[in-house]
Amino acid sequence: MTEPILQVAGLSKTFKRKGQPDFTAVEGATFSIMPGECVGLVGGSGSGKSTIAQMVTRLLDPTSGTIMLNGRDVTSVRGGELRAMAKDVQMVFQNPVQSFDPRRTLGHGIAESLRNFGMNKSEARNRAAELLVRCGLPADFVDRYPREVSGGQCQRAAIARALAPNPPLIIFDEATSALDVTVQARIIDLLRDIRRERNAAYLFICHDMALVQDFCDRVLVMQSGRIVEEAPAFQVTTSPQHPYTRQLLDAAL
Ligand SMILES: Nc1ncnc2c1ncn2[C@@H]1O[C@H](COP(=O)(O)OP(=O)(O)OP(=O)(O)O)[C@@H](O)[C@H]1O
Ligand SMILES: [Mg+2]
Repeated sequence: MTEPILQVAGLSKTFKRKGQPDFTAVEGATFSIMPGECVGLVGGSGSGKSTIAQMVTRLLDPTSGTIMLNGRDVTSVRGGELRAMAKDVQMVFQNPVQSFDPRRTLGHGIAESLRNFGMNKSEARNRAAELLVRCGLPADFVDRYPREVSGGQCQRAAIARALAPNPPLIIFDEATSALDVTVQARIIDLLRDIRRERNAAYLFICHDMALVQDFCDRVLVMQSGRIVEEAPAFQVTTSPQHPYTRQLLDAAL
């Protein structure tokens, strides 16, 4: 039987805040993602979507619960094991320009993870150029700085960087939300092609219900830190079960 690429159980995050009561941003999140599956994560602003993404990538430590990634318990890994997670999961953020070091070229940013996994400098540079081309950019963009490219181009470079370690899971946190509609549509086409080529699984965080219905296989709906509905994408939009999902859909119309 095929094992999930990601299995999250009872995942919670409580933030300690100075002078204020603790705040639980995510409570008891339980879900899994199969290899090659595209799962949408929707919910209002502040519902805990990015907090989940950050726990899965271990940018944040969970307060409780477990995270199994590619067959390994990564809930509390540290040091070298934590760095090795880059091979299993990558994230693409909403603001691509901020996600690159402004003093380094795009090529450097993409090659960095390859170098961390032992590739030599010229091989890594060539591979970075190939990845840029795969993501629809000219090879000589390896020498461009983030400020020298458009938002859409920079997001393509961020996707190239995420593909570099060939991870079986990629998390997109509002990765197309800041782009204009035509650029967004072309990036979505690219993500579809990449998924087909690599059989990568996606966790796709997005506000746009129409896009999620069209792009994802399955959808998780979050409200105030809890997953309140989980269903195939077509079902979430055609026959939402939870009142909050209906509310999200109404708001989208
Ligand atoms: N470091 C932190 N300390 C305290 N509270 C935090 C921290 N990070 C996030 N929160 C709170 O946790 C809640 C969930 O935040 P999160 O960023 O996960 O929401 P989101 O669903 O991604 O929202 P959006 O759609 O606006 O991106 C919010 O109320 C936020 O203010
Ligand atoms: Mg967010």
